[in-house]
Amino acid sequence: MDIKLKCPVCGKELTDDGKTLKCSKNHSFDRARQGYINLLPVQFKHSLDPGDTAEMLRARRRFLDSGKYTPICQSVFEAMEKYTPQAPKVLDIGCGEGYYTARLKALRPGEYIGIDISKEGARMACSRDKDILFLVATASRLPIADSQLDCVCAMFSLLMPDEYARVLKKNGCVIEVTVGNDHLKELKSIIYDEVFPQDKHPADYNGLFEEVHRQEHGFQITLDNPSLKDLLLMTPHFWRIRKERRELLEATDSLDLTVHYWVRVLKKK
Ligand SMILES: C[S@@+](CC[C@H](N)C(=O)[O-])C[C@H]1O[C@@H](n2cnc3c(N)ncnc32)[C@H](O)[C@@H]1O
Repeated sequence: MDIKLKCPVCGKELTDDGKTLKCSKNHSFDRARQGYINLLPVQFKHSLDPGDTAEMLRARRRFLDSGKYTPICQSVFEAMEKYTPQAPKVLDIGCGEGYYTARLKALRPGEYIGIDISKEGARMACSRDKDILFLVATASRLPIADSQLDCVCAMFSLLMPDEYARVLKKNGCVIEVTVGNDHLKELKSIIYDEVFPQDKHPADYNGLFEEVHRQEHGFQITLDNPSLKDLLLMTPHFWRIRKERRELLEATDSLDLTVHYWVRVLKKK
C-alpha cells in the first residue's frame, strides 16, 4: 500500500510489518484476523459501539447485493472516470459493509481504503475484497497523512471538508452522493404524517473546494416484502417509525419506490 497512514494518537507516520501498524512513538495497532485495522482509540469514541449496528449492516448487505442500487454505483463510476486519474488512490468514507468500495474498485481499479466508525462494518467489509484496506476510524480525524489521495467518496455519508481537503492531493476531488427530496417518498409517506424536503447541498464547502459537477439522478424500483424490510432496517427511519406503521409495512407484499439522489464532484482548490 502506497498511501501513507498516520498514528491516530500522535500523528506520526505508521509503518506496516504485515501484522501490525506502528509509529515511532511505539503506538501500535494490530491487524484483526479478518484483515481490518482498528485506528479508533477509545478516547475518540463517543459511545462503546459507534456507527451502524450489525443488524443494520446485515440488512444493508442483503439489500445492496440484490442489485437494486447498482445504478448509483454506475453514476459514481462515471464521475470517477471523468475526474480521477488512472489507478486512483481512493478513500471511501463511511464505507459500511463495503459494497460500494469493492464495486468501485472493480470498475475503476486502483488503491482503495474504506473507513467506517463501525467495527462490524469494517469487519464485514473485509470479505468483499482482501486487497482493500478497511479501517475502523472516524471521518473527523482521518488516520491518513496529508496530500495522499486522488479521490474521497462520501456516499450517503459524512461531509468533513477540512479533513478531506487535508488528505487529498492538489486537484484531488470529493465525490459526494446525497439523497434528493423524492428519495423513497412512497416509503416515507407511509412512515410519516408529514414529509419534509431533505436535499442537502452544503454551499461552499468551507471555500476549500470548487464544485465542478452536479447531477440529479432518479430511477424506480419495486421491492418485495423481504427487501422492503431490509431497506427499512438499513435506514434511520427504522428508529423513528411507529409500531402500527411498521406492522403495516411488514405486511406489505410489494412497493414501488422512487430512488432520487445527487452526485456532486468537488475539486480541491
Ligand atoms: C448511511 S451509511 C452509508 C454506508 C455506505 N456508504 C452505503 O451507502 O452503503 C453511513 C455510514 O457511516 C458510518 N459512520 C457514521 N459516523 C461516522 C464517522 N464519524 N466516521 C466514519 N464513519 C461513520 C456508519 O457506521 C455507516 O456505516
